[in-house]
Amino acid sequence: MEASKILVVDDERLIRWSIRERLRQEGFEVVEAGTLADAMALLQQGVDLMLLDNGLPDGNGLDALPAIRLAAPDVIVIMLTGTNSVEAAVEAMKAGAWHYLTKPVNLDELAVKIHQALETMHLRREVQVLREVVSSPWGPETIVGQSHAIQNVRQLLGKIARTAGSTVLLTGESGTGKDLAAKVIHYGSARANKPFMNITCSALQETLLESELFGHEKGAFTDARAQKKGLLELAAGGTVFLDEIGEMSLGLQSKVLRFLEEKTFKRVGGAQDVSIDVRVIAATNRDLHAEVTAGRFREDLFYRLRVLPVELPPLRDRPGDVQALIDFFLRRFSQELKKPVRAVSPTAMHVLAQQPWPGNVRELRNAVERAVLLAESEELSLDDFLLASTRTTHVHAQTIVLPEDGIDLDALQDELVRQALARTSGNQTRAAQLLGLSRDQIRYRLERMTTPVAQG
Ligand SMILES: Nc1ncnc2c1ncn2[C@@H]1O[C@H](COP(=O)(O)OP(=O)(O)O)[C@@H](O)[C@H]1O
Ligand SMILES: [Mg+2]
Repeated sequence: MEASKILVVDDERLIRWSIRERLRQEGFEVVEAGTLADAMALLQQGVDLMLLDNGLPDGNGLDALPAIRLAAPDVIVIMLTGTNSVEAAVEAMKAGAWHYLTKPVNLDELAVKIHQALETMHLRREVQVLREVVSSPWGPETIVGQSHAIQNVRQLLGKIARTAGSTVLLTGESGTGKDLAAKVIHYGSARANKPFMNITCSALQETLLESELFGHEKGAFTDARAQKKGLLELAAGGTVFLDEIGEMSLGLQSKVLRFLEEKTFKRVGGAQDVSIDVRVIAATNRDLHAEVTAGRFREDLFYRLRVLPVELPPLRDRPGDVQALIDFFLRRFSQELKKPVRAVSPTAMHVLAQQPWPGNVRELRNAVERAVLLAESEELSLDDFLLASTRTTHVHAQTIVLPEDGIDLDALQDELVRQALARTSGNQTRAAQLLGLSRDQIRYRLERMTTPVAQG
C-alpha cells in the first residue's frame, strides 16, 4: 500500500521539524506548510490527513476549518492548539475536526491518534466502495430505452434477479447488451455482494478454458506447480458469466452440463468432487437451436441453459430507442471527455435513428464517442457523425437492393456525388471526404457529369 500523506501546518519551524521526523519514522509521507495559504495549496495535491495549528500568521485554524472541509472533504483534520480548554475542543469537533491535541504535542500520542484516524478512514472508504458496488451502477435503469421490447427485457431481468439461482441464457446479436444484462441480474440479486466472474469461452483453447473454469490440482499438467482454484470456486455464492458459450467444445459442454445438474465438479487432475453454489449466466450471439441441429451444441445443455431465456433485441428493431441512447451516451462522453457538447441536431437525430446499426448499441456508443471527441461546437451535426465513423458502417449492403434489371453504377455514383454536394452546400472538399474520394477524383466525376457522354 502507498504511504499515507500527512500535511503538517504550523508556523513554528521547530515544531514542524520534530513532528515531521517522528512521522517519517512511522512510515508516513510528510509535507509542511507555515501558513494557511500554503496549506490550502498543498491540500489540492491530495493529502490523507492534516495536522492544523490554531494560531497561524494569516488566520485562525479553527475558522479555516469549514473552507478546508469544503476543499477536501475526505481529509482528516487533527487540530493542535495551545489552550487546553473543553470549549475549544468541542468547537473544533463541531467544525469537523477529527481530533484535538494540546501543545506541547506528545509525539507518541500523536502517532497513535494518526494511526487510528487513518484506519477509520480506510474502513470508511471500503464501506463506500462496497456500497457503490451493491447499489446503483448496474441497476435496471442502466438499460436505456423505452421501446416495448426493451421494457420487457428490463422487467424480465428484474424478475430473474429476484429468483435465487436459476441458470439464464442471454441471446442476441453482438452489441445488444448481453454483458450489461448479466451485470444487471447479478447486482440486482441477493448475490450482489459476492463475486461476479466473467469468462469468454472463445478466447481460450479448450484445456486452458477447462482449468480456468474448474481449476486444477497440483501436478495436473506440466505447469501446474500448485493447486489453483477455478472461476466457479472463486465466484462461490456469486455469479459466473459464460460469454460466447456457443463456441465451447462439446467435451467441455458435457462438464458444464454435469455441473449445472449436480452442482459439483472436479478440478482438472482431481478425483474429489467440489460442490459450490453459483448462478451461471450464459450468453451467445449464435442461434443455439441451429447449432444443436448442426451437431455442434449439446441438446441437453441447450435445454438446461434455457431455463430462463432472455432475448436482447437488435437496435434496428427498436429505432425509437436510438434517441434515448444517443442522449445517454452524449451526456456520458461529454462528461468523460470534458467537452461541452449538449445536443445532436434534429436532422442528425433523424438520420441516425434510421441507420441499421449492425453493431447495435456498441456501434452507436462508439459513433457518439467519436463524434463528441471530434466535435467543434455544442451541437453535433450529421457531418460530425459521418466524418467520425468508419465509412463502411454507413453503406450497408443489405440496405441496397439490386433491381431485377441490374443497375447503372455510373449513374449511381453520380447521384451519390450530387447528394454529397447537396449536404455540404457545394463544398467539394467536404463532399469528397464524405465519399472517401480525393478532391481530384470528385472533380473528375463532376466534369464527367457536366460533359454529356455521346450516346451510341
Ligand atoms: N440498452 C442499453 N442501454 C445502455 N447501454 C447499453 C444498452 N445496451 C448495450 N449498452 C452498452 O453497449 C455496449 C455493448 O453492450 P454489451 O453488453 O457489451 O453487448 P454484448 O455483450 O451483447 O455484445 C456496452 O457499453 C453496454 O453498456
Ligand atoms: Mg459481450
